[in-house]
Amino acid sequence: MQQTAHLLKNVTILGIETSCDETAAAVYSTEHGVRSNVLFSQIALHSMYGGVVPEIASRSHIEKINSIVAESLTQASVTLDDIDAIAVTSMPGLAGSLLVGLCFAKGIVYAHHKKLIGINHLEGHAFSASIEHQVPFPHLCLTASGGHTALYLIEGYGSYKLLGQTLNDAAGEAFDKIAKLLNLEYPGGPVIEKLAEAVNFEDFFHYPRLKKKDLSFSFSGLKTAVLYDLVKRGAYDLTNKKLLVDDLLLKQQVASSLLVCVADIFEERLALTLQAYPGVKACTFVGGVACNSYIKNRLAQFARRKNCLFFSPSKQYCTDNGAMIAFVGHYKTQQGKFSDPATLDIMQSV
Ligand code: KG4
Ligand code: ZN
Repeated sequence: MQQTAHLLKNVTILGIETSCDETAAAVYSTEHGVRSNVLFSQIALHSMYGGVVPEIASRSHIEKINSIVAESLTQASVTLDDIDAIAVTSMPGLAGSLLVGLCFAKGIVYAHHKKLIGINHLEGHAFSASIEHQVPFPHLCLTASGGHTALYLIEGYGSYKLLGQTLNDAAGEAFDKIAKLLNLEYPGGPVIEKLAEAVNFEDFFHYPRLKKKDLSFSFSGLKTAVLYDLVKRGAYDLTNKKLLVDDLLLKQQVASSLLVCVADIFEERLALTLQAYPGVKACTFVGGVACNSYIKNRLAQFARRKNCLFFSPSKQYCTDNGAMIAFVGHYKTQQGKFSDPATLDIMQSV
């Protein structure tokens, strides 16, 4: 399949991302790549609740969106006159949060006569490794974030097929929920990684791996397994939903066993996928969970053993960001794939 023939015209795209708890904007151009990538993280607003509160998220987006978009233009040393199209996440995500970004983007589109492109947030993650790397097609993409865990076969820019996804919780969601069980702060992933590092990423408790041997994922059972293991150790009171002991070593052992388990699951799924698609010579690991150096290194080593190229974005492009949305907007602009501002709505397939 021809992948680069369409990359002809020099374009500059403003990307806007407000699907969850990050107000993000970025400018991407054919000539210079990412020219700015600006973000306001709402983590501090949600941490006391142990997860994202949708009402707080949308209010915060309203407060921040104007200044974040303005800052992304300033940092890129461009004005709206230089922008060829506005790319905005329109699905999936929290309805109130998505609406803020989409309405803001439509405002600019109408006032400044710009083109609009609705972007699927998951397509943003799926191509995020290509922002910094020349990833050959076709390749596999493992996306693991707080909202999604999925495997894709990526055949070209904008051309991708879902091979399997989680049947219940996402991997990041499992980290966040288990962190909550252990009275750790939100988001759980980074804290769990730090705790596990202190005990050298050993597998202490051997949590169950996936029974199904297909390309789906499931992480709600892992959360339950951790919960009942804590109960068995006398560390958790199920009736009052309370951690009974504040034992650092136990938390480190849980965190470490958890990361080994998730890395094993990912590795097994990639192995099954490579078996099913032997022509694929590269894989990418993207999404917030790809910030995890232990899991990333495990998958990189696995890929090396399989003679497969491995790519993962730098951390700023793993967690939600505007650059991945601007990047997708960039190739869609070159492909002439625009949205109609009169009809583009949130949650509408794009
Ligand atoms: O991609 P992202 O920013 O948002 C979604 O689209 O969901 O991913 C956030 C998720 C959270 O669940 C967080 O716990 C997880 O990514 N995460 C990590 C790490 N950093 C963030 N998980 C494991 N290890 C990390 N270092
Ligand atoms: Zn995301």
